[in-house]
Amino acid sequence: MGKLDNKVAIITGGASGIGEGMVDLFAKEGAIVIAADINEEALEKAGQKANVHGMKLNVSSDEDWQALAKAVNDRFGKIDILVNNAGISSEKPFEEIDAQDWQKMLSINGFGPFAGMKHVAPYMAAQKKGSIVNISSYTALIGQGFNHYSASKGAVRALSKAAATTFGRQGVRVNALFPGIIETPMTQSLNTSKELLDRLIQATPLQRLGQAIDIANAALFLASDDSSYITGSELVIDGGYSAQ
Ligand SMILES: NC(=O)c1ccc[n+]([C@@H]2O[C@H](COP(=O)([O-])OP(=O)(O)OC[C@H]3O[C@@H](n4cnc5c(N)ncnc54)[C@H](O)[C@@H]3O)[C@@H](O)[C@H]2O)c1
Repeated sequence: MGKLDNKVAIITGGASGIGEGMVDLFAKEGAIVIAADINEEALEKAGQKANVHGMKLNVSSDEDWQALAKAVNDRFGKIDILVNNAGISSEKPFEEIDAQDWQKMLSINGFGPFAGMKHVAPYMAAQKKGSIVNISSYTALIGQGFNHYSASKGAVRALSKAAATTFGRQGVRVNALFPGIIETPMTQSLNTSKELLDRLIQATPLQRLGQAIDIANAALFLASDDSSYITGSELVIDGGYSAQ
């Protein structure tokens, strides 16, 4: 028996990296998984896996979210799990960030999870049960110089707490994950410098970088009924990096 048997799960950014790891694990654990992503080419590949359906979504579009939530509920009869994982990053220095950079970052990383919860939570509330997992970042917890990115992830942190209190009485749980540096296409630039990579590993108490499965395992726990009394919680998955 799988931990997510008979559950319907939407995972945004499900075509790459951490999202792809969660799509694979959730499907293995028995869920019907909707991998929602803006990258149609990658989605086509994701949609070929057993129990996985690829659906196009731009998380910064309110209309896209409304249409996706309705389409999933119409087709599968319910929505049990939402993982707001899609995101973009940037290492642009403070002085070079302009209004357009700021708005793009906040519209994908901040408005995306907000709109996802706004449109999906009512379907969960209708069955008085649901689990939402929002992917923030260790950069929301400590100063790392990823300026507008950190701000967007701080928004996810605060939004998750507020949403947990908003939706709790309707049976909908909301929790947040805080990954450290995880090896995915988002962080592949690290591979160009062995020196930087070694430095990061040395600076991590558990002496390695994270993998998508490290985040997927935590998301599985929060998505499943194993965590049925947990809402508004924050779980840091960074090998101890931010504990120092
Ligand atoms: N990799 C890390 O070190 C790390 C650390 C902390 C937090 N995170 C967060 O984890 C999440 C996943 O990151 P990842 O490393 O797997 O990145 P990734 O680049 O491998 O995957 C991100 C996915 O999001 C999708 N996406 C981007 N913009 C979108 C949009 N507007 N609408 C829908 N989909 C969109 C991309 O197409 C891609 O499939 C992100 O929110 C990221 O900020 C990553």
